[in-house]
Amino acid sequence: MSEQTSSKVDFSKYFQPPSLKDARRRRRQAVQIINDFSIPEDMAAIGRGKQYLIETYGCQMNEHDTEVMAGILEKMGYHETDDPKLADVILINTCAIRENAENKVFGHIGTLKTLKLEKPGLILGVCGCMAQEEVVVNKILAKHPQVDLIFGTHNIHRLPQLLKEALFSKEMVVEVWSKEGDIVENLPQSRRGHFQAWVNIMYGCDKFCTYCIVPYTRGKERSRHPQEIIQEVRELARQGYKEITLLGQNVNAYGKDLPDLQNYGLGNLMDEIRRIGIPRVRFTTSHPKDFDDHLIEVLAKGGNLCEHIHLPVQSGSSDVLKIMGRGYTRERYLELFHKIKDAVPNASFTTDIIVGFPNETDEQFEETLSLVRECEFDGGFTFIYSPRAGTPAARMKDNVPMEVKKVRLQRLNKLMDEFSAKSNAKYQDQTVEVLVEGESRKNPEVLSGHTRTNKVVNFRGPKSLIGELVNVKITNAKMWSLNGEWQEETQGVR
Ligand code: SAH
Ligand code: SF4
Ligand code: F3S
Repeated sequence: MSEQTSSKVDFSKYFQPPSLKDARRRRRQAVQIINDFSIPEDMAAIGRGKQYLIETYGCQMNEHDTEVMAGILEKMGYHETDDPKLADVILINTCAIRENAENKVFGHIGTLKTLKLEKPGLILGVCGCMAQEEVVVNKILAKHPQVDLIFGTHNIHRLPQLLKEALFSKEMVVEVWSKEGDIVENLPQSRRGHFQAWVNIMYGCDKFCTYCIVPYTRGKERSRHPQEIIQEVRELARQGYKEITLLGQNVNAYGKDLPDLQNYGLGNLMDEIRRIGIPRVRFTTSHPKDFDDHLIEVLAKGGNLCEHIHLPVQSGSSDVLKIMGRGYTRERYLELFHKIKDAVPNASFTTDIIVGFPNETDEQFEETLSLVRECEFDGGFTFIYSPRAGTPAARMKDNVPMEVKKVRLQRLNKLMDEFSAKSNAKYQDQTVEVLVEGESRKNPEVLSGHTRTNKVVNFRGPKSLIGELVNVKITNAKMWSLNGEWQEETQGVR
């Protein structure tokens, strides 16, 4: 904590700032499973007649954390609103993955200043991955006094106590634990979907890719016990959920840290979940290094395990992968890719790619293009490298001008689009199973959903189909989506 900010604030027990150094220093300490979450009596009804709004940035992990925070607030009597002017509590659940993600959040915090002036009783909180960064917390302390509360990704279960402190304290309340690696099992959650659900299987990341902030913001890798996960999935099946997505930053490392289970990995877990009566099971994100043969064998059994693999490659150059600290080579990635493709027929593959990593040469970038040509990905996310303070890559000197990076991104996107169109064209005239998720964003007359392979399908049909699995015949395969006709007579095959 810098001198400048320490003089302004009261270091009470509710002032715990983040430290990237502490986050890095994770020892082999045992993971604590906590089961004693409860709302203090004096907070149990504090939200009666009041409303909350949570704005979520970032990945599925954050989306799911928002569901947990919503669950906690609802237990305290708060109701959800989508109008910031009506809200008594606004939480901004932030993402730190790239600079532009952070800039968006700061812009937004700025705009909430007027709202806070109009309604001084409003509690404005900042949480999520940005709250784990020292630079961010210092900036908020210095420039955004309208913020009442900052709490980290390990402090979500303390929301009732922190909210209480924020309601009764004049100072900004900051509680960010940097080394914490516990699992809190009995948190309430208010799920946003009625037929699709996120299920955390593990937290944190120990991969420390040199460009990435996540291992610092999310703590060490820790797996939930299979029993807890299976119980949660069974309950979702009982409630009629149609699709679950198993979540973790590096799901292939699942189980490695479970002391009482030897050699129990993601394959074993998926094999158990396969037997539960839920029609669709997805998982994300896979790391190529830990993707093992047992998992491939289990995925090949199909059933409710969807044939879509998100397998981030990051770069097609072994030299760049080495400096990124990814732990695999181009050859090893391709070998794995083909092994999965052979074992799981019709599987779709998506990926993540970073261009313009420090000192990436033209040749190295060409290797990325050639890997994309070989894999013919169905789609993916592509990014220009963004330096994150505190990570090893941020200290590397970089000789690649931004203009060059932008051109590389454009070239890569063009190629990815070509393969997206090519893979979609294969669906022409085929009948596919679609989970109907709602009205299409562009046209409320049209319904929209995904195939098992995660392709977006748009078609016309009655709204009563929302939440159902239906058959759709593809009549027009486009670059990023498929248009089709609902096959009414074959509805309910599954
Ligand atoms: N755990 C996942 C990725 C999580 S972050 C994995 O390892 O695959 C999602 C994606 O953001 C990453 O796959 C990477 O492509 C991108 N990303 C992460 N840090 C980045 C950075 N500093 N600059 C640009 N892109 C980044
Ligand atoms: Fe970041 Fe690498 Fe962990 Fe993915 S595996 S979250 S890219 S450190
Ligand atoms: Fe962003 Fe944190 Fe997810 S940095 S991508 S919200 S784990």
